[in-house]
Amino acid sequence: MKHIEEISPGSGMRVAPRSELSSTAERIDLGGAWRFRHSATPAQAAALASNPGVYDAGWDTIDVPSHWVLRGEGSYGRPAYNNVLYPFPLDPPHVPDANPTGDHWRTFDLPAAWLDDGRVVLRFDGIESIGVVTLNDVEVGVVRGSRLRQELDVTDAVRPGENTLHVRVHQWSAMTYVEDQDQWWLPGIFREVTLLHRPAGGIDDVWLRADVDPATGRGTLTPELRATGPVRITCPELGLDATVDADAPGTIAVGEVEPWSADVPRLYTVTVANEVESIELRVGFRRVQIDGDAWLVNGRRVRLRGVNRHDFDPVNGRVVDPAELRRQLELMKRYNVNAIRTSHYPPHPTLLALADELGFWVIDECDIETHGFVAAGWQGNPSDDPAWRDVYLDRAERMLERDKNHACIIAWSLGNEAGVGGNLAAMAAWLRRRDPSRPIHYEGDHDDLVPDVVSRMYAPLEELRRLTVARAGRPIMLCEYVHAMGNGAGGVAEYEEVFDAHPAIHGGFVWEWRDHGLLTHTADGTPFHGYGGDFGEEFHDGSFVCDGLLLADGTPSPALAEFAAVVTPIKVNVGTGAVTVENRRHDGDTADLTFAWDHEVDGHVVASGTLNVPPVLAGAEASAALPDLSLDAPGEHWLTVRAELAAAAPWADAGHVVTSAQRQLREATAPAPGATSAEPGVATASGYTLGEATFDESGRLTSLGGLALTGGQLTLWRAPTENDLLSGFGSYELGAPEETGGLGAPGPSSAARWREAGLDRLQHRVLAADADADGLLVRTLVAPAGIAQHVVVEQRWAWTDGALTCAVDVTPSTGWDRTWPRIGLAFELPLGHGRAAWFGTGPHENYPDSDAAARVGRFEADVAELTVPYAVPQESGHRAGLRELTLTGEGVPPLTVTTTPVAGHRVGFTVGLHSAAELAAAAHPHELPPPQATHLVLDLAQHGLGSRSCGPDVRPRFALWPRPASASFALRVG
Ligand code: GAL
Repeated sequence: MKHIEEISPGSGMRVAPRSELSSTAERIDLGGAWRFRHSATPAQAAALASNPGVYDAGWDTIDVPSHWVLRGEGSYGRPAYNNVLYPFPLDPPHVPDANPTGDHWRTFDLPAAWLDDGRVVLRFDGIESIGVVTLNDVEVGVVRGSRLRQELDVTDAVRPGENTLHVRVHQWSAMTYVEDQDQWWLPGIFREVTLLHRPAGGIDDVWLRADVDPATGRGTLTPELRATGPVRITCPELGLDATVDADAPGTIAVGEVEPWSADVPRLYTVTVANEVESIELRVGFRRVQIDGDAWLVNGRRVRLRGVNRHDFDPVNGRVVDPAELRRQLELMKRYNVNAIRTSHYPPHPTLLALADELGFWVIDECDIETHGFVAAGWQGNPSDDPAWRDVYLDRAERMLERDKNHACIIAWSLGNEAGVGGNLAAMAAWLRRRDPSRPIHYEGDHDDLVPDVVSRMYAPLEELRRLTVARAGRPIMLCEYVHAMGNGAGGVAEYEEVFDAHPAIHGGFVWEWRDHGLLTHTADGTPFHGYGGDFGEEFHDGSFVCDGLLLADGTPSPALAEFAAVVTPIKVNVGTGAVTVENRRHDGDTADLTFAWDHEVDGHVVASGTLNVPPVLAGAEASAALPDLSLDAPGEHWLTVRAELAAAAPWADAGHVVTSAQRQLREATAPAPGATSAEPGVATASGYTLGEATFDESGRLTSLGGLALTGGQLTLWRAPTENDLLSGFGSYELGAPEETGGLGAPGPSSAARWREAGLDRLQHRVLAADADADGLLVRTLVAPAGIAQHVVVEQRWAWTDGALTCAVDVTPSTGWDRTWPRIGLAFELPLGHGRAAWFGTGPHENYPDSDAAARVGRFEADVAELTVPYAVPQESGHRAGLRELTLTGEGVPPLTVTTTPVAGHRVGFTVGLHSAAELAAAAHPHELPPPQATHLVLDLAQHGLGSRSCGPDVRPRFALWPRPASASFALRVG
C-alpha cells in the first residue's frame, strides 16, 4: 500500500529503457489466461494475500492483456469517463481509499538454459495505473507510467522450472495525477507481458540514426550500441557490410539512398549482429529540420493532414489488436490522412512499425496530462513541482528510448494539457540533448518558450493568422482542430485555405480519429455503445468521449469523407478549357494515378475516358485538355474527373479514388413547373381538393394520389447537433469573428437560443386559403408563442401533368435577432417507402460549411441509411441541391419529388425514420422509438455545422440568418 501514493518513476530491478527490437534472443509471451481477484480496496486485497494458499481457491480467470472493468459483466467494477477533472478530490498525491485493486497471477516455466548465461528480463508494456510485481513471493519492482514500457531484471528472483508471477494493480495512485487524459478510466494489465532472455554478450540496445542529405541524396547510418565487441551491420540492398566497434561505431556512409517519407515510405532492412545475437531493423533515411518558419523533412516542408489517435477498441478498450490496427491505418491512408499524433501517450509499439511501413508522419506524445489542476488555477501542478521532476524525465526517457528507431517520428511531444513548468522544460532539454534530430512539440505553453513548433488546439482562423505575425519565423501547427463530435465539424475547408495562405502553418490533426463508445447493453439485452454516465458514474462528461471521424463501431462518419476531400494531396481542378492537376504530396509523382473522366447528362454517364496527364512531380502542376464532348443533349451536363490508383497500393485496391472534381458544363433545360393549374382547386366540407391531392381546412396537405402524404408546413427546427448544443466556445452570432479575434462572444449555445425563441414549437395561423382556377393558394403566418416576430409562408399549389406542384415563398418579419436552424417544409408519409434514389448531391449528408465531399450525381440508399447513427441522435442526412428524389417500397406507389431552381437555388432534402423532436429527445440511438412514419423535409436553407462543441462556431457566411427564401418543386405519386 505504501507504493500507492509514492511519487516515483518506478522502483525495483528496473532495466534502463531501450528500443523496441526484433531479436533472435528468446522470449516467452506471458499473455493468456491469468488467475484474477478483484478487491474493492487495497486493504481487502492485502488481507487476501496474507491467507495461506492464496493462489488456490476462489480465484477467477482473466485474460491478459485486458482491463478488468471490461470483463466480468460488472462484477469487477465498471468503466468511468472524465474529460478534464479528476474523478476524486484534487488532493495530491492522495487517492481514495476505495481504490479498486486487481490481483493477477500466473505461473510460467523458465527454460533452465536461460539461467546458464545472461539475464532474465520481465517486460510490462502497459499497466494502469501501477503494478506491484512479485515473483516467487519476492517483490521485484513497482511499475509506474501506465502507457510506458518497463522492464525488470528478475534474474535473481527466477528459478528453473515453475515460477509464480503476481502483479497487484491499483486503479488509482499518485501517478493518476499525471495521467489525466480525456478518456475512459480503464485499469488493468492492458498491454503485453513478456519474459525475455538477455544472452550474455548480446546486443542490449541499438539506435540506427539514419540520415540523408537532401542535396546529394546520400545517406549515413550512425549506430549507437549497447553491446560489447565487434558488431556487424549489413544491408544487402545498400551493399552495406561493416563491422564496427560497439563502443565507437562511428558514422557509416551508405551512398545514395531512397529517402523515407510519409508518401514514399521506403524502408531498408538492416541487420545488426554479433556472435551472440542478431537484430533486424527496418530503417528509413530522412532528415527532419526546423529552418526559420519551415519544418522540413528531406528539405521539403511537411504538410500535416493528421488525426489524433488513441489506442481504442469498443470491446477491449486500450488493448490493441495488431490486425485491426493495420486495417485502421489502411483506412486512414484511403482517406488521405498522412499524420498521426499519438494522443496522449506512446501508442502500442505496433502502431509505429506500421506507420513506418505504410507511411505516416508521427508525433509521439509522452504519457503526461495534469489537466485537472485547472480546477485549482494550476496551483500544485506536478509539471512545476520539483518533487515530480524525476517522474517527468523518466517518462521522456522511456518514450524516446523505446521508439527512437522509427523513421515515422518527426517530433517528440512532452504530453498534453499539463500546464507549464520546469519539469516540462527539463524534459525538453533532455530530449534535445539525447536526440537533436527531432523537434519538440508541446501545446500547453502559449508563450511557446519550451517547444520548437508553435502548436495550438481549436484556434480560430483569426488566431492562426495572428500567430503567423506574433510568432513570425517559427513553424506553426494545430495539434487539435475540427472537433469531429456528432454531425460536423463544419469549416474544414476554411482551415485549409488559411494553411494554404500561410506556409508557416504546417497543417493539423483532427480531434479525433474514433468515437470511444464502449459496447454495452441495456437491462433487456439491447446492445449499444455507451458513453460517460452509461456505466453508473456519478461524475462524468457524457458524450464528450465520442468525437471521432469513425463511429465507435468503426464506421466512417461523413466527416471523414469531407476531411479527405478537403486535404487531398492531389488537387484536381476542372476548368473551362483544361483540367489541372496539382501534386501536393511530399514525395512521388502522379505516375501511380489515372485520371478518369465521366460525362454525365442528368446524372447518366454518356461518355467516359482517361485524361492524358503527364506524371506530375511533387510540388508541381500540370494540365490536360478537356475531352471533346457534345453538349447538345437536353439536360444538365457535368464532367467529373477522378484521380484513381492505377494499381493496388499496400493500403487500397486499384481503382481507389484519391480525389474527384466536377464542373457543370451546361445548365438544366427542363421548364420550370408553372403555377398554372390544369385543374382548379375545389373547396370541400373538410378542406380542399386539387387534382389527386387533398388538403385540410388550413391548407395542409392530407393525401396525394391515395397516399397519406401529409404536411408541407414550415419548420425552422432541427434536432440540435452537439455543435449546436454546446457553448464552451464563443458564439459568432453574439460576437462576429472579425470583432472578437475569432473567439466569438461567451453566451448560450445555438440550441439554447433557438429553444428560447420557441423555434421548436411554431404555431400556424392561416391568413388565406383560396381555391381558384389556378389551384390553391395558402398563406400562413407562422410564429412561436410569446414573440412578435413571425414568418409568412405563401404556397401556390397547382395540379399539372399528374403532379402536384408548389411554388413557395417564405418571408420573415423584421426583428428576428438570432439564426435559424433551417427553413424547411416538413412532410410525413406512412412507413413502407424504404428505398431512396435521388439525383442531387451525395453520397453523404452535406451542409453549407461541409460540402467538399459532395458531388452531383445519381445515388441510391435505404432510407434507414440516410441518417447517421451518431452516438447521440441529432440532425443528420441533409443533402443540398436536390433535382429528383424517388421513394419506393414493396406494395406502395412510388413518390417522386422533382425540383426546379429559383434564382439558381434548389431545395435540399432530408428523409428519415424519425422526426426532429424524436431525435432531439433520445440520448442514444437505441432509445429512439420504433419508427411511426417516414419524415421528409424539403429544406430551402440550413444553418452550417461549425465545431462549437470544441472550437469555432459556424462562420458568418454559413450562418442562416432569417431571410426570405423561395422554392419550386413537384410531388408525384405512382
Ligand atoms: C482537448 C484535449 C483532448 C480532448 C479534446 C476535446 O482539449 O487535448 O484530449 O479532450 O480537447 O474533445
